[in-house]
Amino acid sequence: MDPKDARFLAGLVHLGFVSGTAMREALAGAREGESPPDLLARFGLMAAEEAERLRANRLGAEPSFTRYERLELLGEGRTARVFAVRDRRDGRTYAVKLCREEQARDPKRLRRFLEEARLLCELEHPGLLKGYRLARDHGQYFLVMELIRGEDLERALERDGPFAEDALLDIARQVARTLRFLRERGLVHRDLKPGNLLRDGDGRIVLCDLGFAVREGDLRGGGRTVGTIAYISPEQARGLADLDARADIYSLGATLFHLATGEPPFGTGEDPRTLRSQVGEPLSTERLRAFRLSPLLHYFLEKMLAKDREIRFQTPDEILAELAEKWRPETDPATPPSPTARTSPSRRRRRPAAGRRPRRRRR
Ligand SMILES: Nc1ncnc2c1ncn2[C@@H]1O[C@H](COP(=O)(O)OP(=O)(O)O)[C@@H](O)[C@H]1O
Ligand SMILES: [Mg+2]
Repeated sequence: MDPKDARFLAGLVHLGFVSGTAMREALAGAREGESPPDLLARFGLMAAEEAERLRANRLGAEPSFTRYERLELLGEGRTARVFAVRDRRDGRTYAVKLCREEQARDPKRLRRFLEEARLLCELEHPGLLKGYRLARDHGQYFLVMELIRGEDLERALERDGPFAEDALLDIARQVARTLRFLRERGLVHRDLKPGNLLRDGDGRIVLCDLGFAVREGDLRGGGRTVGTIAYISPEQARGLADLDARADIYSLGATLFHLATGEPPFGTGEDPRTLRSQVGEPLSTERLRAFRLSPLLHYFLEKMLAKDREIRFQTPDEILAELAEKWRPETDPATPPSPTARTSPSRRRRRPAAGRRPRRRRR
């Protein structure tokens, strides 16, 4: 069999479209020269057209669009892939988010994806990814949105190590403004984390991925833990339904903690141990001290990461008010050193190892 076809069939099993047993039976009964879609259809495993479509787009990894030319892959998450595209009509570039094929088969997941897309098209704020249109082409739904030329903060952290204090408090301020906007609309994001914050070339921080966003008081998701365990609040970890902005504030604290120290507060694991720590393990003041953060940053982290939401910052406005009162940035964060200049590959290569920033900041 053609290696491409073999990879395609193996991928179908791997992604759960067809069971391994059913595939083995089909392969054992394959006829000379029979194409994979015909084989799959003959064994009742998948409609031939659907198999042809998935074979053509390499199970979603290489989608095609009539209107858009696909450029590079910008990022991937658990539910989606995001590509840069060029609009053939006006030559402009956009980002396109597509639900992974294996996720789109699940009606609940697909519905969430469509809800997220509609929400991003409806909301408008500089700290929130702007969605333009939801479309369907080649059997796939996709969201056309603003393209952020930059990177997400998880990647920035991996490459450059922990962030400096002014940069962190600037992120806190920008994200708090976005959270205030969401709160005014009664929305809780539920998946705030470094990988869902994009930074553009001007230092603007843009929140993306509203795949888990819900209306405050919406009972959906109650009793079930959603989000990314390393960053979720105790109440979210316990599956409580009555989440509000304070849950996102905790996640902002966990995000800033990770960006400040190189480690999330209670481990990276998507496991029951990390989940238990989110619920019950107090933030160790000693451990925080060991990172030698400034008293100011320490204060903000502790107050955002309070287990009891009654003693956390109660609203994004409270964070903004305290930042305005207590924080005097050394450098003007409105004009940060251009991240693209600071991190251009040529410059990175030239930088001597001794000049690299340590994983943990010392002062
Ligand atoms: N508009 C965009 N411009 C540039 N990169 C983006 C854009 N949207 C998403 N990305 C990148 O793609 C990744 C996955 O997108 P995301 O919406 O978080 O998908 P998922 O819901 O699967 O987590 C992000 O972490 C980010 O790196
Ligand atoms: Mg994401």
